[in-house]
Amino acid sequence: MAQTPEKTFYIETFGCQMNVHDSEKVIGTLLAQGYRQVQTQQEAGLILYNTCSIRDKAEQKVFHRLADFKKMAQQGKKFGVLGCVAQQEGEKIFDRAPHVSIVCGSASYRNLPEMLMQIEAGKQRVTGLDDRETDECFETEFTSRSNPHRGYITIIEGCDKFCAFCVVPYTRGKERSRTSASVLEEARRMADAGYTEIQLLGQNVNSYCDPSENKRFAELLAAVGEVRGIRRVRFTTSHPRDFGRDIVEAIDAVPALCDQVHLPVQSGSSRVLSLMQRLYAREQYLERIAWIKAARRPISISTDIIVGFPGENEEDFEQTLSLLDEVGYDSVFSFKYSPRPNTPALKFIDHIPDQEKARRLAVLQEKQKQIQSRNNQKHVGEVLEVMVEGHNPARGQWIGRTSQNKVLNFTAVDGQALLSGSYAQVRVTQAFPNSLVGELASGSAEVGINHFLNSQSRQLAF
Ligand code: 5AD
Ligand code: SF4
Repeated sequence: MAQTPEKTFYIETFGCQMNVHDSEKVIGTLLAQGYRQVQTQQEAGLILYNTCSIRDKAEQKVFHRLADFKKMAQQGKKFGVLGCVAQQEGEKIFDRAPHVSIVCGSASYRNLPEMLMQIEAGKQRVTGLDDRETDECFETEFTSRSNPHRGYITIIEGCDKFCAFCVVPYTRGKERSRTSASVLEEARRMADAGYTEIQLLGQNVNSYCDPSENKRFAELLAAVGEVRGIRRVRFTTSHPRDFGRDIVEAIDAVPALCDQVHLPVQSGSSRVLSLMQRLYAREQYLERIAWIKAARRPISISTDIIVGFPGENEEDFEQTLSLLDEVGYDSVFSFKYSPRPNTPALKFIDHIPDQEKARRLAVLQEKQKQIQSRNNQKHVGEVLEVMVEGHNPARGQWIGRTSQNKVLNFTAVDGQALLSGSYAQVRVTQAFPNSLVGELASGSAEVGINHFLNSQSRQLAF
């Protein structure tokens, strides 16, 4: 009897943490469908690209890859485009790359098993595209997480904010929250499997609202922080408009919540914020920063900034620079404005030359580097807890991450070996703009409470 050929897939992911986690869910779904994941395109029968379209550059990368597909199509391989470019371009992808078989946006991943079966049965093309109508979340029964210590949980999908520059409301559909019961169950299963750190994900976690119990984000955050075995909880990303004081109170009250808030501001000028349809002015943003700074915990603050948004003049830009000083961010993700399809800002005249956007970006990044140097210098002499993430043999250093999400590279005495995923107390001896350096404080390497208990029973996919 002829053997059924083995089903293999290769997946590559572009873009943000949401996409990274979506790929973990897609991988879990394919494994459950009897596929085996392989590490190269050559070995795979099905090649998937999970794409990003947040900025023009990310999207161009995807189209270059689509061109590469062509050469491999003769070998009988199937190709799938997932994620934001799939949702944005839809069936136009088939015109540009006729060898593609699957086009599927993130709001349709729950239909993947059905779509795969159709392809296996010989159908040439299948599409899963959302029209912002869905009320469903993609439940994560089969998630296959790549890191055994630290993992993501989606709490809310989509976005209803419609900032003028942003493509997300068109690529990820309308806002929909998971029930807190489902989130907490996933957190407990992760703790049972040995995870000690959880990162709650959503385009706008602050507008989370439990569809069954009316639980708000701060309550869910605190509840996840109280799950037995979970030592660290982070969350991203926050919209300033919905960022309530109760989140800071939760961080103060629940030890497992990390000393970290990512609060994208986008611009320091109220005039530009209004053009961006961000729904807050500089003063309201600074009010939230004041709440965070008034916390008993040393909460680290990071942000996202766009330079060169249509209409941004030199004075607006100066206001963004002054905001950097006023807040004293520990990290800033900064971007040149890039026009995106469907967005309201497409109608504005993008009058700022690319060269000028690049200049503003460089000025901003140089200023921020100095701020980070100063901030990090204050840690020298402190003893900080890190989760051990790995080892750098070339430098003879262990790589750790602090509660504030700072990288802390450190040495241990006499070549002592540490386990990835364990926790250690480290004395900081040096500071750089993007990392800290230190040494293990004597005799303090400590393994996460349930690390040993569960490491043997840990499953890759659940
Ligand atoms: N151009 C440049 N940056 C953008 N971002 C979102 N859309 C655009 C765009 N069109 C940035 C914002 C957002 C981050 C994830 O990406 O700063 O917070
Ligand atoms: Fe985009 Fe604004 Fe929604 Fe964030 S809040 S995903 S920037 S539309």
